Amino acid sequence: MTILVTGGAGFIGANYVLDWLTAGNEPVVTLDALTYAGNLASLAPLNGDARHTFVHGSIGDQALVGRLLRSHDIRAVVNFAAESHVDRSISGPAPFFETNVMGTLGLLEAVRNHLAALGDGARQDFRFLHVSTDEVYGTLGPADPAFAETNPYQPNSPYAASKASSDHLVRAYRETYGLPVLVTNCSNNYGPLQFPEKLIPLVIHNALANKALPVYGDGLQVRDWLYVGDHCSALRRVLEAGMPGETYNVGGDNQKTNIEVVRTICTLLDARRPKADGTSYANQITHVTDRPGHDRRYAIDARKIERELGWRPATSFTEGIARTVDWYLGNASWVDDVTSGAYRDWIKRQYG
Ligand code: NAD
Ligand code: TYD
Repeated sequence: MTILVTGGAGFIGANYVLDWLTAGNEPVVTLDALTYAGNLASLAPLNGDARHTFVHGSIGDQALVGRLLRSHDIRAVVNFAAESHVDRSISGPAPFFETNVMGTLGLLEAVRNHLAALGDGARQDFRFLHVSTDEVYGTLGPADPAFAETNPYQPNSPYAASKASSDHLVRAYRETYGLPVLVTNCSNNYGPLQFPEKLIPLVIHNALANKALPVYGDGLQVRDWLYVGDHCSALRRVLEAGMPGETYNVGGDNQKTNIEVVRTICTLLDARRPKADGTSYANQITHVTDRPGHDRRYAIDARKIERELGWRPATSFTEGIARTVDWYLGNASWVDDVTSGAYRDWIKRQYG
């Protein structure tokens, strides 16, 4: 049988597809619309690999998804496809609702119609794994307990609101139509293949290009950093053993302020690629106007997935961030590929 991965040319999806085909031999169909965030170069190691099929298209195209489900005998869908960048959702919310809400609706409808035509056994074994975010829970104060699966949804950005809506749709399809769904809400991912609009790859890219390292506001916002390889292993485990209808929070157990993260990257680069003039990359740090509605702190309580499925993150921040910096230093051509015209337009609009 085969799994369908949507958004598999994006950051986490590409890591997941590569990881899946390293860990086993079950074929993968990747469906991706190839927006600015999708990159076939990320899947280049699979060129010529008969276990992988790439299909260019949208999750909202029900007819296409229906054909893929039937013709590839799909047993599980892992849904990564989304508009994912908070700052873009602030400057233009509409595409977030088109993809994250209407797209997810189309995907769910295609799966519902497909399952209606299957026998009981195949229907029960089918899985729809929806990959979501901790941002649906809103923001935490410094002493608040970390987000548990039972926290109320309080999204603060258009991105978070669109993901919250998609989570609600997935839940409703379980309750109303009995779809065998699983939902994961994870914290900020980092690692290889992340588009350099997100904090960590943006800082690495700007540092090497001798540009300002933009830190929003005081830089004391806290994120719980999850190494992407650990996220992939969590998703594999949830797909394998998760209970349909359940939600699992996935975190890295690595709470850091943004300024700590940026300073750590500068220290790593100082050692690995010292600047010709002998100064530190940290001199490029620039505090800029804060993001509107900026959530102060995210932290994940991942005890449920540990207790029920035996999963824990394996990568410390020290190890993961060093691996990430080394990956970007060693893959300048991937970065050059993705930082072409459209990327430069965004950077100019966002940072002036
Ligand atoms: P990304 O922006 O790097 O990739 C998204 C991918 O989806 C791209 O390849 C894009 O082309 C594709 N896509 C967009 N619209 C599509 C459509 N209509 N049909 C098919 N494909 C489409 O995102 P990411 O960082 O890899 O995130 C993947 C998922 O994980 C998202 O759902 C996101 O909300 C969630 N998530 C991400 C993080 C994070 O830190 N990156 C944290 C929590 C949750
Ligand atoms: P980001 O990578 O955009 O992820 P998210 O907003 O989903 O958490 O941002 C991570 C943190 O870094 C967030 O608190 C915003 C901050 N940030 C900056 O300070 N400067 C930047 O240029 C960017 C892109 C983010």
